[in-house]
Amino acid sequence: MALKKKKRPAALTPAEIQKTLHKNLEFIASEQYRLLRTNIKFTVPADVKCPIIGVTSSIRGEGKSTTAVNLSYVLANKGHKVLLVDGDLRIPSIAKKMGVKSTPGLTDLLIGSSADIASWKSEIHKNWYILPSGEIPPNPSELLGSKRMENVLNVLSEHFDYIIVDLPPVNIVSDAMAISSYITGMIIVIREGYTSKKDLDRCMRQIKLSNVNILGCVMNESEEGSASYSKYGRYKRSRSYYSEEYKIQDKEEFNL
Ligand SMILES: Nc1ncnc2c1ncn2[C@@H]1O[C@H](COP(=O)(O)OP(=O)(O)O)[C@@H](O)[C@H]1O
Ligand SMILES: [Mg+2]
Repeated sequence: MALKKKKRPAALTPAEIQKTLHKNLEFIASEQYRLLRTNIKFTVPADVKCPIIGVTSSIRGEGKSTTAVNLSYVLANKGHKVLLVDGDLRIPSIAKKMGVKSTPGLTDLLIGSSADIASWKSEIHKNWYILPSGEIPPNPSELLGSKRMENVLNVLSEHFDYIIVDLPPVNIVSDAMAISSYITGMIIVIREGYTSKKDLDRCMRQIKLSNVNILGCVMNESEEGSASYSKYGRYKRSRSYYSEEYKIQDKEEFNL
């Protein structure tokens, strides 16, 4: 695949960002997401009752969260009951994109809080449920790879037809790999003109090592958008503190 040299996409205004999302999309873009929805039906094993699909990429700014939002919307629009989960517990963005509060969210479930699924229902579509990140924890990778995470996903999958999990980039942190054994498969987003071949090779090597199913690749061809290197830099900061609050509760059953 010939990928152009990486360059930083121009920043989008909040109004422009909304134009890249769900019902605000132009016809051609919505058509591509509908095609992705159809393709996923062929790549997800037929016996899986509720596919749990992770969305990742090699680096930040390639369009993972945009893809997760739009894919979950087209699935909901098709009549499936869909849960969109913000699994980027370092720089969450789903709450902001969806105009909902970021707490309570996934981290609350992971520390043992009870959940009220009805309160996650989106105002945009009756089949669409949004679970934001919750408070940012000090140990995202540990949380995403925990037994508790597996329990949470198992219980949630009883209530939905699809679960879409927005994840951080593979080349920066191990979070997407940590959750990989609990999901049905992964969608890899590649942003043309931004993802370098070296980045993509490294990402694919990591993904192969984890043995996760690759359900498909999305070529996000836009030359525009904000990749925010300042945010990307945050991944490089080490998080040395540890809070008791986010201790994993592996043994505890998760019930709704
Ligand atoms: N196809 C696209 N066209 C225009 N802007 C896009 C497109 N895909 C993503 N963007 C913009 O690029 C930025 C990064 O996208 P995002 O989905 O948040 O990336 P990631 O989750 O991979 O970090 C956002 O401002 C988003 O609105
Ligand atoms: Mg994102």
